[in-house]
Amino acid sequence: KRLLLLNGPNLNNLGNREPETYGSATLADVESMVQEVVLSHNYELEHFQSNHEGELIDRLQQAEGNIAGVIFNPAAYTHTSVALRDAIAAITPPVVEVHISNVHKREEFRHYSMLAPVCMGQVVGFGIDGYRIATLGLIQKIESEGG
Ligand code: DQA
Repeated sequence: KRLLLLNGPNLNNLGNREPETYGSATLADVESMVQEVVLSHNYELEHFQSNHEGELIDRLQQAEGNIAGVIFNPAAYTHTSVALRDAIAAITPPVVEVHISNVHKREEFRHYSMLAPVCMGQVVGFGIDGYRIATLGLIQKIESEGG
């Protein structure tokens, strides 16, 4: 079974961008951490990052029938994107929303997630460890449903 790790805008710059908020680990570090969890459960991993909303939508659409679940940090599109919400709502694989920072401690506009109502769950504020937590939760869910 395959999982998809999907990262949205500016996360290619993880490690350099606002390290006081997002830490010093890079996206490659995130990818290898998730890869380790996924392999230890005998799953496979695909990883895709894009700064472009439409490319993220394309990958979500392609997940249908090919991917058992998605770990998704939609970054700033979390707070704005009706199109990503519709894409998630239209597919069968469960999607877990991840935020590195605790968005609820930050600006008001980050408190609202357009995507949370169509996601399986949300992991917020654990730093990059949130990706590992989300992956474990997602695998647990897939296994319990025999998917
Ligand atoms: C983020 C939180 C978003 O508000 C922000 O736009 C990001 C990163 C996080 O991981 O904490 O780019 O998704």
